[in-house]
Amino acid sequence: MRGVILAGGTGSRLFPSTKVVNKHLLPVFNKPMIYYPIQTLKKSGINEILIITTAHQAGDFMKLLGSGRELDVKFTYKVQDGAGGIAQALSLAEEFASNEPIAVILGDNIFENNFSEDIRCFEEGATIFVKTVENPYRFGVVEQDENGDVLSIEEKPSNPKSNLAQTGFAIYDQEVFDIIKTLEPSKRGELEITDINKTYLDKKQLNASEVSGNWIDAGTHESLLEANLIAQEIFENKKQTQNSTKNISTEAQKSPSVTIGIITHNSEKYITPCLESLQNQDYSNLEIVIFDNNSTDQTLDILQERFPNIRLIESNENIGFARSHNEIIRQTDSEFYACFNIDMIFEPNVISELVDAIQQKPIFGSSGGKIKRWDFDMFQKNPNASEIQGKTNFIDSAGIRILRSHRFEDRGQNEIDHGQYEDSKQVFGISGAAVLYRKKALEDIAFINEKENKEYFDESMFMYKEDIDIAYRLQWAGWKSLYTPKAVCYHDRTIASKGSSHFQIIKNRLKKKKVANRLSYINHHILLKKNFSKDFSSSISRATLWYNCKVFFYILLFETEVLTEWWNLSRLQSKIKTRKRSMPRRVSTTEIEKLIENETL
Ligand code: DAU
Repeated sequence: MRGVILAGGTGSRLFPSTKVVNKHLLPVFNKPMIYYPIQTLKKSGINEILIITTAHQAGDFMKLLGSGRELDVKFTYKVQDGAGGIAQALSLAEEFASNEPIAVILGDNIFENNFSEDIRCFEEGATIFVKTVENPYRFGVVEQDENGDVLSIEEKPSNPKSNLAQTGFAIYDQEVFDIIKTLEPSKRGELEITDINKTYLDKKQLNASEVSGNWIDAGTHESLLEANLIAQEIFENKKQTQNSTKNISTEAQKSPSVTIGIITHNSEKYITPCLESLQNQDYSNLEIVIFDNNSTDQTLDILQERFPNIRLIESNENIGFARSHNEIIRQTDSEFYACFNIDMIFEPNVISELVDAIQQKPIFGSSGGKIKRWDFDMFQKNPNASEIQGKTNFIDSAGIRILRSHRFEDRGQNEIDHGQYEDSKQVFGISGAAVLYRKKALEDIAFINEKENKEYFDESMFMYKEDIDIAYRLQWAGWKSLYTPKAVCYHDRTIASKGSSHFQIIKNRLKKKKVANRLSYINHHILLKKNFSKDFSSSISRATLWYNCKVFFYILLFETEVLTEWWNLSRLQSKIKTRKRSMPRRVSTTEIEKLIENETL
């Protein structure tokens, strides 16, 4: 969700202090007032922030805050001509909200707590936040019944019906902008936020939640002074807790459980750097489980000697990627499952960032970070030489996109990372090299096989493309995938040539091992059979058919051995059909088509 800070208005109650300086730039203890709402949004998981302010002071905000890089957020600025009221200021955020719910905070409101949980659980309508105060006539006043349902809401009433003030934080769905268009100016000539809330109340779509920590509206001389004192108190307390012993265990109790599942098969060279980077994660409620597929090199010895505390499941045959992960998922019961490759290293915040991201909305079924290329040869030549450890600035995957021909591409692959994939956004899918799944989502889309076992990954797909299949199935079931660039990891993979030209596709195929091409080919057809809809538009159907024909002719000419896979595919027909029928399909073909992008020729 994006957030907007309303920092316009005249600040007339603070005259003459605000004659020249914008109210939100006045100091509150050790920083300008605007830093507080920024922090509240940031701590609530919002990094894209629109600041709305006056024309003649907008430059001051830009000078102070810039692009947001320093604060690790992204600012957009908009100017409100005049001071037509809070609702009028908010109307300027319509384009920025881009049809999504939006969090709104008044620039003079200072909160001790954050709203991450409320944002995560928000679905529709409006949620406002209230607090008991001694001087309700200064605020919008909310009257509730014994169940907490809102009965009425009045702006600065002379006879308040309760002591509950509406604070300056609220979450609205996309309807809010249509509502603002219907509002009339109040007696004081402003479009009022209270009138927005009244409209939601009339539609029975207004929720009110109580704010737990300190809250202050710093808009008067007295409250500004109080804000200074409270900010100081909070600051000093925080310092004390930081200095006292860190109580990580309570944090661990609160954070959801995560299992990292890793498959090894003759992986001796990767084990140590990979597992060390995972043991360095800053997330505590975490277990790592290794599934070894009958390694014959030093893999098991290294695991026993160096990582005796990591749980190991041994298989005496190589059962493939899909089945191995399914085994781990069946044998563990964490809320989240991280499917990570062994040929990778991970920055210490990967799990915490992925968990934070996926928790933003219950609808997120998977999240994935920015995967960059790991120059493993460089790492091996000098593993301890520097911090760099062979980490490069080439992108390996910033999520997976689906193209009209039903080719699937890693976003950004082979590009130099110059910040072009810094926006967290929904993507079609996440590369199976490093992806965090919500267990509930996996349970939702699992197939039940002949042995009555759950297959989260489709075990007919021994390895390759099962990540795309699962991404597609999650989409059909209504689960979304979130790319989250702050979770950075590095993958030892020869980067394929970018582009869709015949030459590049052929070049990429020649680089891969024969078995990979064979399995990719059959698995592509398995996933198409399950996920392709006959209701797709004719242009998608044509593009997909044409692409399949081209690959078929290529194989006929250059990789005839792959043709035997048609025999295997024919044997799987009825199983695939049954699976297709059992897949939850909660979204329309039109919704899926919205995800499909044009070819990048
Ligand atoms: O702080 C909570 C209160 O904020 C609520 O209880 C009230 O219902 C709500 O109307 C508001 O009352 P205030 O009297 O405190 O609003 P004020 O005029 O101070 O505006 C609050 C912020 O909104 C201000 O810091 C800047 C922004 N604003 C305000 C106006 C009038 C704008 O961006 N543009 C505007 O035109």
